[in-house]
Amino acid sequence: MNAQNATQLNTMIDTDDFFTADVAQTDPEIFGYMEAEHDRQQNQIELIASENIVSRAVMQIQGSVATNKYAEGLPGKRYYEGCEFVDKMEQAAIDRVCKLFGCKFANVQPHSGASANIAVYYALCENDDLIMGLSLDQGGHLTHGSLVNFSGRQSWKSKDGKTENKGYKTLSYGINEDGVIDYDLLEKQAVEAQPRMIIAGASAYPRAFDFKRFREICDKVAAKSGKECFLFADVAHYAGLIVAGLYPNPFPHAHVVTTTTHKTLRGPRGGVIMTNDEVLAKKFDMAVFPGLQGGPLEHVIAAKAVAFGEALKPEWKVYAQNVLDNARILGETLKASGYDIVSGGTDSHMILVDLRSNNLFGKEATHALEMAGLTTNKNSVPGDKSPLNPSGLRLGTPAGTTRGFGPAEWKQIGGFIVEVLNGLKANGPDNNGAVEQAVKAKVKALCARFPIYQNCMG
Ligand SMILES: Cc1ncc(COP(=O)(O)O)c(C=O)c1O
Repeated sequence: MNAQNATQLNTMIDTDDFFTADVAQTDPEIFGYMEAEHDRQQNQIELIASENIVSRAVMQIQGSVATNKYAEGLPGKRYYEGCEFVDKMEQAAIDRVCKLFGCKFANVQPHSGASANIAVYYALCENDDLIMGLSLDQGGHLTHGSLVNFSGRQSWKSKDGKTENKGYKTLSYGINEDGVIDYDLLEKQAVEAQPRMIIAGASAYPRAFDFKRFREICDKVAAKSGKECFLFADVAHYAGLIVAGLYPNPFPHAHVVTTTTHKTLRGPRGGVIMTNDEVLAKKFDMAVFPGLQGGPLEHVIAAKAVAFGEALKPEWKVYAQNVLDNARILGETLKASGYDIVSGGTDSHMILVDLRSNNLFGKEATHALEMAGLTTNKNSVPGDKSPLNPSGLRLGTPAGTTRGFGPAEWKQIGGFIVEVLNGLKANGPDNNGAVEQAVKAKVKALCARFPIYQNCMG
């Protein structure tokens, strides 16, 4: 850059505009996309079980000055100066999440749920250790030992012994034909295989986890192997219900608990690691930083604190109860119209619809629903022949409940889903457009009665 260009650039940055101009003027392209996204969120019904709609307060704090701050380390022990106030924000997030879950130690720095989980493996597992999680195609998450994920990288040696890879060994447990975890089989498998860690958690399991039974199994494994078998509960999906006392709490049973902050917990996107064990807590802190991450996202951590503050209020229990009640209403509405629900119902915010008896597949169903303004995702169901072409539909009520949809609206939404799916059965995927458009108009009218933010910036 020559001297003249450098002067021009300084002049631009030095103008008052830099700190006052609105993004609508400075970057109309990106602002336009954001407006369209706001429009999409306003006019469609969000049924993806892992999504929610944060408060304006959470959005405001996430888009705040804390985005400018480097704060490697932990509150009171930073590698940078100027951390007086971010220390307070991060400490508030830690204190609040510990209070919510009733545990002693928390690290609120993981950038996401996957980052939190990787830090747990990094802290507790050695190469060649066996980890055991719920199979991906039966409701588990990629980070619970899937072969395509870090957690499922395997130890192997080529036949000639020249190439070697170091990783974990993995073993999956599953659910029975009723759609619930087969604890007796899990115990048998675990006692035989002696894993270093068992993961209790899922992305598509609507029923309650029996964390006490999981811990008993871990203790049996440990008694046989002579080595601790860690119980790692990943409650990413259920967190918001747990802190309301409406879903089993993994404490005091689990050695370590992770969660995302953006699903039922309704905070900014991110992760948390929690434990009651001081020695393990130090290991997790070291694994997150300097082990895996650099500077923490203090603007996100502050927004986590705001969300945890919301969950500590008495109103939270009402919200969480509504999420549960609404999931049950949605499930019953679909059942009454001839759609099978895996395990017959739910203990949580999600339901899994088994489309096989209606001769439909998840892919065509989710596409048709999307055309009608109902956003969902396809999912495997127990006994599915192909994980690539699953026969299930996962639905969740956290986002719609945040919007204010109550029992009457959830019955209506169930009716919309049935109308689209029945149309798909009768007309096939290529000729269902009229049904989809008709439902889309009804969805839009319903959404208009339940507005979200005023604009894309909150
Ligand atoms: C059980 C579970 N754990 C971890 C994650 C990963 O969270 P993130 O997407 O924030 O990395 C998810 C996300 O869907 C999840 O369902």
